[in-house]
Amino acid sequence: VAIFGGRSNPALANKIAEAYGTTLGDLSIRDFADGEIYVRFEESIRGADLFIIQSTHPKADNWMELLLLIDAAKRASAERVTAVIPYFGYARQERKDQPRVSIAAKLMANMLTSAGVDRILTMELHAAQIQGFFDVPVDHLYGSTVLTDHVRQFDLDDFVVLAPDVGGLKMARAYAQRLGVDLALIDKRRPRQNEARVMNVIGDVEGKDVLIIDDIVDTAGTLTRAAKALKDHGALKIMAACTHGLLSGPAYDRIENSPLERLMITDTVPLKRPSDCIEVVSVSNL
Ligand code: R5P
Repeated sequence: VAIFGGRSNPALANKIAEAYGTTLGDLSIRDFADGEIYVRFEESIRGADLFIIQSTHPKADNWMELLLLIDAAKRASAERVTAVIPYFGYARQERKDQPRVSIAAKLMANMLTSAGVDRILTMELHAAQIQGFFDVPVDHLYGSTVLTDHVRQFDLDDFVVLAPDVGGLKMARAYAQRLGVDLALIDKRRPRQNEARVMNVIGDVEGKDVLIIDDIVDTAGTLTRAAKALKDHGALKIMAACTHGLLSGPAYDRIENSPLERLMITDTVPLKRPSDCIEVVSVSNL
């Protein structure tokens, strides 16, 4: 077995190698003056069972770098190449929900396959069906495994897990079952055109501590709007657990100025900057 890491998340790649009781293989990756990427394995990988760790959050170069690494590994006669993609970017564009748009997740799957990948190991895909975009095996891990263990440190009496939208219900239910607590849901509706959206909270949150669950926190709009609705409905302590902390654009400002007391994320994507209300739990052992 040989484990290599791209440049997208070196801290996690090192931790994974450490958890496996080894160190990362020797790899050169450089950018040419025009921005093209150069990769080279600096040790023999002939016949190796090779794992390449690379999250594919923006920028798109992280995708490109992964594809080049897979191509280089196959051409260097690695026996089996597994792409370990802790965060699978473009997974939110997984269907043609409007005319004339791309199914980007399928395109990423096609490119991985063309590059010669033998197996995918990924985590909390935005839509589990993306596994079917591949004809090679996909191991799909869940952030809830480490996040629920982390949440158990809190007092779970009068505790509710909440899905911030209907799409997140299945995932929130899995958390509620693992933690043995009740489930609630926010149903967003626009009663009439041009009227502000109403955030209906379905379930009993008054006087309870609430944990909002989502797969991704990106600009934190979804989480902070949910937190405000929960406060208005009498929730006490409001926390959130999300596997992938992209935290782009206004995310930090929104979180720090919201009723959210604590956001727990994993290290599938490197943290942009620390914050008193953000806690990072590692998925490396998983
Ligand atoms: C969307 O379907 C995802 O599950 C997340 O709810 C979404 O990506 C979060 O985005 P934001 O933090 O920008 O509201």
